[in-house]
Amino acid sequence: MKCRICGREAQPFMSFGRMPIANGFVTPGQFKDEYFFELAPVFCEGCSGFQILEQPAAQLMFHENYAFFSRTSRRMAAHFADFARWLRGRVEGAGASDPFVVELGSNDGIMLEHFAKAGIRHLGVEPSANVAAEARRHGVDCVTEFFTPALAGRIAAERGRADAISAANVMCHIPDLHDIARAADRLLGPRGILVFEEPYLGDMIAKTSYDQIYDEHVYVFSALSVSNLFERHGFELIDALPQSTHGGSMRYVLARKGAHAKAPAVAEVVARERAQGLHLPETYAGFRRNCERSKEQLLKLLRDLKAQGRRVAGYGATSKSTTVINYCGIDPSLIEFISDTTPIKQGKFTPGAHIPVKPYEAFCAQPPDYALLFAWNHSQEIFDKEKDFSDNGGKWIVYVPDVSVIG
Ligand code: TYD
Repeated sequence: MKCRICGREAQPFMSFGRMPIANGFVTPGQFKDEYFFELAPVFCEGCSGFQILEQPAAQLMFHENYAFFSRTSRRMAAHFADFARWLRGRVEGAGASDPFVVELGSNDGIMLEHFAKAGIRHLGVEPSANVAAEARRHGVDCVTEFFTPALAGRIAAERGRADAISAANVMCHIPDLHDIARAADRLLGPRGILVFEEPYLGDMIAKTSYDQIYDEHVYVFSALSVSNLFERHGFELIDALPQSTHGGSMRYVLARKGAHAKAPAVAEVVARERAQGLHLPETYAGFRRNCERSKEQLLKLLRDLKAQGRRVAGYGATSKSTTVINYCGIDPSLIEFISDTTPIKQGKFTPGAHIPVKPYEAFCAQPPDYALLFAWNHSQEIFDKEKDFSDNGGKWIVYVPDVSVIG
């Protein structure tokens, strides 16, 4: 097996076993045709890249019924309003008079709507038709296509070079990042910036948040790996800004070599990554042991609660939960149902384990004794919202950074 970034031979350091499509919520009629693949991450010593080598075909994950809508959390909406403000400041600060901003994977328009409202030239590139339609309802101009060098050339010819290409939680989904770098090269103006933020490898290793690893996430990035990749295409990392979203993310800012000054944060983040050992294989052997321990502890807790006759329900049918549920072997005998506010997931069953997904109202109507917090990245928002659940004796089970019971 070869690393997608540098071509070096790379071997998986662990396997999470057979996994279904993380956002592939199913009806009983679809159980027998469910697609499975082996989820086995790889660390590449050549470029410090962290990736999965076997990934289902893109059409199995991103299609007209894609189940992930960005507008599921108030905090994320606020985050993307901030992101838009920050990006606008950055672009205008670089001297663009009539800026043009392109977002890859613009989803339901949660970020670009701020550019649309301000009358700033923008374009969303979003391959999943259902979420793109929602973006259009918010006034966002978008094309329903994958971002390729050919599309980048067309956009540049029709609308001019972009001042910024942005992406959030998208780059880690794209296997061929060399193609993305070539496309960015075609579309960006000479002083244009490429900005993306993604779940951060440093946080995942520190918190054993292995649920960031699932079919859609081909990569979990670090500043080291992002630099190694884009330097091959004439870009350099000019800034790195940690974010609290998705349980710990990093915003990377890249530009053509020499076009902008490098912020001191770049050297600081890289030094921290080296101190954490993100470039060393032994770090990933330790991560594997931590994953195994987390699995044992979570299963033991759920089995003990079942033996005591306690009712447990999941909170948030996240993509991430698919890895936890299937790796740990959690089934409907351990978790009655999972509540989720996303209509397209409700009434269906979770991928692989087939735990029923119910609307939030089911959680309120029959509060369980314990709620297993799969949407742990929204814990503050959820704990605030669910004060009544806690006040009435409900307890939370969390597994990041450690398996524990709260309440
Ligand atoms: P998200 O955090 O984006 O996780 P992932 O990227 O792993 O899918 O998704 C959050 C999920 O949790 C989404 O399906 C909506 C659901 N959710 C609730 O049901 N209630 C809530 O209060 C929140 C914040 C999220």
